[in-house]
Amino acid sequence: MPKLKLPKPPVPPNFQPPPPRPGTANGGGGPLESAKEAGTTVVGWVDERTSLSGAARWMMFRKVPKGTNWFYTLGSATMFAFLSQAVTGVFLAMYYDPNPTNAYESARYITNEAFLGEFVRGMHKWGSTVMVILVFLHMARTFFFGAYKYPRELNWIIGVVLLILTMVMSFTGYLLPFDQRSYWATIVGVNINGTGPLVGPYLSDFLRAGPEFGATTLSRFYAIHMMLVPGLIAALIGLHLYLVAKLGTTAPPWLKAETDPHLREEQA
Ligand code: HEM
Repeated sequence: MPKLKLPKPPVPPNFQPPPPRPGTANGGGGPLESAKEAGTTVVGWVDERTSLSGAARWMMFRKVPKGTNWFYTLGSATMFAFLSQAVTGVFLAMYYDPNPTNAYESARYITNEAFLGEFVRGMHKWGSTVMVILVFLHMARTFFFGAYKYPRELNWIIGVVLLILTMVMSFTGYLLPFDQRSYWATIVGVNINGTGPLVGPYLSDFLRAGPEFGATTLSRFYAIHMMLVPGLIAALIGLHLYLVAKLGTTAPPWLKAETDPHLREEQA
């Protein structure tokens, strides 16, 4: 029986030789020439090796419901505030010293002497307030638009954890300048935590890092503020956004669901 010759599969678009370039002897073709042309942009080069553009497209190019308005930008605004805190925080950490004898002096140095120090410290301080306001506004938006309902309950729960972590950032950051106000305010805050039911006393012991409020407390707050909580927030924002991309956003509650006019006629 003669051998059946199957047609060759088509060459994938990425591997097709480029069109001949005018002015070259062989039209610019040949496998070597094509190889030289492969991955002409950095994005193309990376994508050929990782196929990440598919994931980026999945995350970013999506349809949004009718009636989407400015209130839907509050989540992204909160994320921007968080990123700004992360960047300014890194610069502050280059000069800040979490040792009780040097902490106040290092904060003073940042404000009065370091290049752009006052600006960066001001951004971080005001940015923390902005982030807290935005996270509450974003929560109010999702609540009043009913976005916490099925199937987005898990995203609401992740949001509640993000809200608590944002408050923990504010609380732990407040002690770091180690001036009179931050010292006494944090003692009050730790004592309030201690009055909580069941876990309260353990929580205040953990925060104080010992029987007395002092050097160990400052290190503990610094570690929580610098590493533990920002890491958790970053990971949870990733999960939060994954669910937003997967489930889509909720349409505003005042929009009625559209039914097919054809079906409506049949029902009548
Ligand atoms: C660091 C804090 C947070 C960040 C960066 C963040 C970010 C976002 C972003 C970018 C969206 C997309 C839609 C939009 O912006 O409205 C979103 C949606 C959502 N967020 Fe947040 N969020 C945070 C905290 C919270 C909190 C505290 C809650 C509630 C307790 C929450 C609940 C939700 C829900 C339920 C959705 C889905 C909205 C919908 O389907 O329309 N988030 N979040």
